[in-house]
Amino acid sequence: KIINVILSGGVGSRLWPLSRKSSPKQYLPIFEGQTLFQKTVLRNKSFSDTIVVVGSKDNYELSRKDLREIGETHYSEIIEACPRNTAAAIAFAAFQSDPNDVLFVTPSDHLIEGVDQYGVNVQRAIALAKEGFVVTFGLQPTKPETGFGYIEADGEEVKGFREKPNLDTAEKFLAKGNFLWNSGMFCFQAGTFLAELKSFEPLLYQNSKAAFDSRKDGFLDFEQSMQIPSISVDYAVMEKTKKIKVVPSNFHWSDMGSFVSIYDYLIKQGQEPDEFGNMVIGTKIHTEFLGLKDTLLIQTSDAILVLQKEKAQDVKKIYERLEKEH
Ligand code: GDD
Ligand code: MG
Repeated sequence: KIINVILSGGVGSRLWPLSRKSSPKQYLPIFEGQTLFQKTVLRNKSFSDTIVVVGSKDNYELSRKDLREIGETHYSEIIEACPRNTAAAIAFAAFQSDPNDVLFVTPSDHLIEGVDQYGVNVQRAIALAKEGFVVTFGLQPTKPETGFGYIEADGEEVKGFREKPNLDTAEKFLAKGNFLWNSGMFCFQAGTFLAELKSFEPLLYQNSKAAFDSRKDGFLDFEQSMQIPSISVDYAVMEKTKKIKVVPSNFHWSDMGSFVSIYDYLIKQGQEPDEFGNMVIGTKIHTEFLGLKDTLLIQTSDAILVLQKEKAQDVKKIYERLEKEH
């Protein structure tokens, strides 16, 4: 069986105030009337037999609503009591599967265009996964982005995987020319993944298994979950595994991870920044920028963010501070 594992646990804190705990970015119907979550489900339908949504207790109702709206009934869900990051989230889906099942793991917050090319790349990844590999998708980098993982590649062979390098390192990677961005989608057999996870992160493996085993109606227990080390799959498995392969890919992809990606997306949609690179997002109120450059003004009904574009990754810090204060 081929299972599309949809990770939907993040709150999208770098998109505050557009993205909130009560309405994370993947559920905002701002992409031609659909949400990124719905687009993910529809895009992957033809490659998989079924769906497993791994989400949180704060958003499973949003996932259900999204699925209902597009008429999707063939899915199961794992509902986390608290976010423990992607290594654990994927492990839960793997525990629920047969060892031979192929898991096609996708984030829920990506925008992908060029579906034909995408299909070719996904089919190749599934074939490699069936041979026992841990498969990543590599995209041609266009700038020294520090929010991504980098894959040092030679065809489908991987010489190294490096998650979120600093700017210096990212610039060196780009200059070398044989580094690809990790798309954040993965493909492997459930058994392969769990064996690797168990050998690199035995505590994470053990505690996520314990949390999974004591779940009730799909809901994981809070106390048990808190025992799971919070590590992303990139650090826990991808940087360490020798079974890694990459499918060099060339579909159009953007991680709607920060306001820079939203900015780029809006430009493609025809919304123009002013001559100094300033732009308004989320409001039609007439706005002028004077003496500012590369600044974004983001407005929702109850909050405004004025953001220097180069600080886009740091919006997360505001979100975290507000979380603590409330
Ligand atoms: N269920 C669940 N639980 N999902 C989670 C959790 C969790 O605790 N944490 C994150 N997710 C989901 C997010 O909602 C998102 O869809 C996906 O997992 C990836 O998490 P991000 O937090 O967005 O990761 P990232 O963007 O910093 O980095 C990853 O993606 C990049 C490309 O977008 C890495 O894989 C990078 O290497 C990659 O370049
Ligand atoms: Mg992301």
